[in-house]
Amino acid sequence: MSRIAYVAGRYVPHRQAAVHIEDRGYQFGDGVYEVIAVRGGHLIDEERHLTRLHRSLTELRINSPMGDGALKIVMREVIRRNSVDTGIVYLQVTRGVAPRDHAFPKASKPVLVVTSRRSRPPDPRLGRDGIAVITIPDIRWQRCDIKSVALVANVLGKQQAREAGAYEAWQVDMAGQVTEGTSTNAWIVTADNTVVTRAADHAILNGVTRAAVLDIIHREGYRLVERPFSLAEAKTAREAFLTSTTADLLPVVRIDGMPVADGKAGPLSRKLRETYLVHAAAAA
Ligand code: PDD
Repeated sequence: MSRIAYVAGRYVPHRQAAVHIEDRGYQFGDGVYEVIAVRGGHLIDEERHLTRLHRSLTELRINSPMGDGALKIVMREVIRRNSVDTGIVYLQVTRGVAPRDHAFPKASKPVLVVTSRRSRPPDPRLGRDGIAVITIPDIRWQRCDIKSVALVANVLGKQQAREAGAYEAWQVDMAGQVTEGTSTNAWIVTADNTVVTRAADHAILNGVTRAAVLDIIHREGYRLVERPFSLAEAKTAREAFLTSTTADLLPVVRIDGMPVADGKAGPLSRKLRETYLVHAAAAA
């Protein structure tokens, strides 16, 4: 089956899908994106993703390429044309095409790209056995709350994790506090069974999965504090886990090669994972 992409107003074969060499996303990373999970043909937490998209666009002063109604139609059409039942939708908006100049162009039309592909959620074994993370200095800019396509620091971090045989790299700021993973949010559970995750400040992306898991924690009545936690605290935590659209919720059982607690997926992490998967399945 040939894949189809939506590029600046047209549905085109994926092989031929292209943007202009002077697209500002290509030259400056001057654009934003979203990754939305598709389960059973439905978009999971679509409204939250669109709300965050608009926030990112507003922060960068890029106009919306179209209204939400039209955007939802395009995403569904791309899913349909690619026969995606389980997978992801990737949506990207750049400031558009203009002769290279750092300052905003006087007139440019935002360029919207939407693609979709089949992909499986993580192997359930990862949910059962947990994953390893390494830690690296957080070398990114100070607006990580904006879901910008400028991801080279995240790319370097993820590659370092891969080369170390780990699933993710947790980034640590100058104060020794964990900010987040390169494409996931970071969580720990303390000795008194309190779930801790950094508040959604400018140092992290306010994950949609994070928000859904916070809802579950509130609903189920678990103890929660949104505050920074240090690498030292993470390494001596009772449990640790990470969240994202593509990872769902995965227990973290090793940090920098050292086991978290007994090195097994923690019970609260596993419970939260199960409940999150029910949430994703219900949306579908
Ligand atoms: N990444 N932090 C960062 C830096 C991210 O890039 C992501 C998402 C998250 C988790 O956000 P959410 O729960 O909304 O997926 C946290 C996506 C999946 C990606 O870049 O592929």
